[in-house]
Amino acid sequence: MSPQVDPFVEHFRASAQYIHAHRGRTFVIMFGGEAVASKDLRTLLFDVALLHSLGVRIVLVAGARPQIDDALARRGQEPRFVGELRVTDEVALECVKEAVGATRVELEALLSMGMPNSPMAGARLRVATGNFVIAQPIGVVDGVDYQYTGKPRRVDAEAIRQRLDDDAIVVLTPIGYSATGEAFNISSHDVAAATAIALGADKLIGLLEGQGVLDAEGLPSSQLTPQQAEQLLQSGRDLGHDVERHLAAAIQACRGGVPRAHLVSRQSDGSLLRELFTRDGVGTLVTSETFEGVRPAAQSDIGGILALIEPLAEQGILVRRPREMLENDIDRFTVIERDGMVVACAALYAYPDDSIAELACLVVHPDYRTSGRGDLLLQYLERQSQGKGLRRLFVLTTQTSHWFRERGFDNCDLSDLPAARRSVYDQARRSKILLKPLD
Ligand SMILES: CC(C)(COP(=O)(O)OP(=O)(O)OC[C@H]1O[C@@H](n2cnc3c(N)ncnc32)[C@H](O)[C@@H]1OP(=O)(O)O)[C@@H](O)C(=O)NCCC(=O)NCCS
Repeated sequence: MSPQVDPFVEHFRASAQYIHAHRGRTFVIMFGGEAVASKDLRTLLFDVALLHSLGVRIVLVAGARPQIDDALARRGQEPRFVGELRVTDEVALECVKEAVGATRVELEALLSMGMPNSPMAGARLRVATGNFVIAQPIGVVDGVDYQYTGKPRRVDAEAIRQRLDDDAIVVLTPIGYSATGEAFNISSHDVAAATAIALGADKLIGLLEGQGVLDAEGLPSSQLTPQQAEQLLQSGRDLGHDVERHLAAAIQACRGGVPRAHLVSRQSDGSLLRELFTRDGVGTLVTSETFEGVRPAAQSDIGGILALIEPLAEQGILVRRPREMLENDIDRFTVIERDGMVVACAALYAYPDDSIAELACLVVHPDYRTSGRGDLLLQYLERQSQGKGLRRLFVLTTQTSHWFRERGFDNCDLSDLPAARRSVYDQARRSKILLKPLD
């Protein structure tokens, strides 16, 4: 019997690969003024400090919408919005300065904490703020003069990089400055997206107020391409302002070259760490680069899938799948399309009662191998499985066991498979069975 492994030790070891992957990377983390006002701000900043200590270069972008509204209310004024956009008159600008100033001080104070016995003990963090965002006024749109509401004109990426090189955490707020010496109120989501693009950040991370991005069935969307995210925004479904603003920023960032945008609900404790250091799909990943071209298969892909599978079935590498079987199972297939051609496919057979799924028929066209497409499909299907609440993935293979073992799968026995799959195991093929836990 193998000795019992302490779950803490197990989790810490499991996070090693992510620690290595994130070191030296630049993350832009955006959150609303609600997070700043919340009692959970401390814990959130402790987690940010932890990320920083692991070598992640961090830019925080804090919103201040409720604080600005409160400052207006104290002056007996109503906030004025046209759609999503605040109209910032002189009084509102005073409120913006007041709210943004207080937010900065609050964040700087908490990030300076170093009390013994606190998670920040010995952290000695540097915080950098400044005139990094150059603004231009929105001006008059459809007859509405937005006055001191602006948009980012340029982000001084070089200056931010210098602060990050100097090991500081950079804090940005929804304000920018113009060449005329004026201050403008800019949406924090616009600041975050523009900054992530200008810096060439590795990730934009949005901390959401609600439950996160949910699909039409109310289940969390584990991954979206910018195109799918845009369709969701245009679907007419009420996603809530917070989700809509974060999704729009994620789309903008991805289209501007940021490889990955993660949208994570900040409501559950440690969700930022879970998203970054475990395979648990707690958030929604919006990404253009890697998952571009990855999509669910349609009946029209059957010819392309057959062309991929048949040569390998001839060689005995894959099980033969007749066309009728593919027609029946097409909903289980995911493909990667390139220039109108199916260049890779994989199928997922879920056994929800056993919280397990089989990854089958993973094939990349020989001309398109060794450029990460196999990995990409595996990651995609892992996140999809997690999104369905599945905890383990298994695969049957005759000649590719090392490829899977190098990606976290381990040999297991027939008895580990769900009964329904066990009963149809082909003894003659003598396939190896490999299993991967998804958390
Ligand atoms: C396995 C397969 C899907 C990988 O696709 P891919 O797009 O080339 O994968 P990636 O680019 O992510 O990974 C490539 C790496 O895997 C390695 N690899 C490929 N086939 C392998 C195998 N059978 N065993 C071990 N490693 C293998 C490559 O050498 C390469 O390693 P490198 O990065 O050190 O050079 C592809 O080789 C394939 O279609 N094989 C035939 C079908 C098959 O065996 N499917 C699995 C059964 S379900």
